[in-house]
Amino acid sequence: MTISAPLIAGNWKLNHGPAETTAFLRDFLPRLAQVQAERGTVVLFPPSISLPAAREAIGAREGVLLGVQNVYWESSGAFTGEVSAPIARDAGAKIALVGHSERRHLFDETDAHTRLKIRAVLDAGLSAILCVGETLDQRESGEAHAVVERQLEAVLPEIREDEVRRLYIAYEPVWAIGTGRTASSGDAAEMHGHIRSLLVGRFPGPSSDLPILYGGSVKPDNAAELLAASEVGGLLVGGASLDPSTFASICALGAVVDG
Ligand code: PGA
Repeated sequence: MTISAPLIAGNWKLNHGPAETTAFLRDFLPRLAQVQAERGTVVLFPPSISLPAAREAIGAREGVLLGVQNVYWESSGAFTGEVSAPIARDAGAKIALVGHSERRHLFDETDAHTRLKIRAVLDAGLSAILCVGETLDQRESGEAHAVVERQLEAVLPEIREDEVRRLYIAYEPVWAIGTGRTASSGDAAEMHGHIRSLLVGRFPGPSSDLPILYGGSVKPDNAAELLAASEVGGLLVGGASLDPSTFASICALGAVVDG
């Protein structure tokens, strides 16, 4: 699987069942064909039950990958209601979100859980996007760097050097998710620089150019500025990825950005 920057990811959360997924892609793929350049990768994260419909609609088209929003850390067994990394891969996922703030805050996921999930995802041969980010309280009390560092350090010791290129980080300040408040491009650049230095500190070679994504109220009218910020190598888009035309216009910005 080749992922080239910028990486534009659409996290549909609990939206778009199989029929809506098919309808979305019927509309979205021709739009994307018009705007996507030779580089840049689009990843869609439908609900896991919609993965087969998405895989069928995408067919052999290149430049669009599928991902799974969450996995359990065991591969199989008596875990009613869960989806594992190997099963998601079987359904067409190439990449998995881990540690999204909604998982952390609504479903009580801890750093220990994200560590187990990252291990399961990499062991299944998938790539991972690890989401990190501070709450408003944590930012206002000057803890943003420490929180992001703790979330990263919970996972990085698990990673072998030969796996680093399958681990992407998304910086998603919790106060910007679904709120309409976006980090300024300066705030994003500052935190992305910090994340880059932590990654390079641990894996000097392979992590120096891996795209670091920004997420949190990304819309067509702020996407270009965020993508142009230093060290922002992609976007993780929630609400604005649900509409084919809106998401295609964000993907178009990804295709022209110089990075
Ligand atoms: P949002 O969500 O774009 O709706 O803020 C982003 C995310 O949760 O990944």
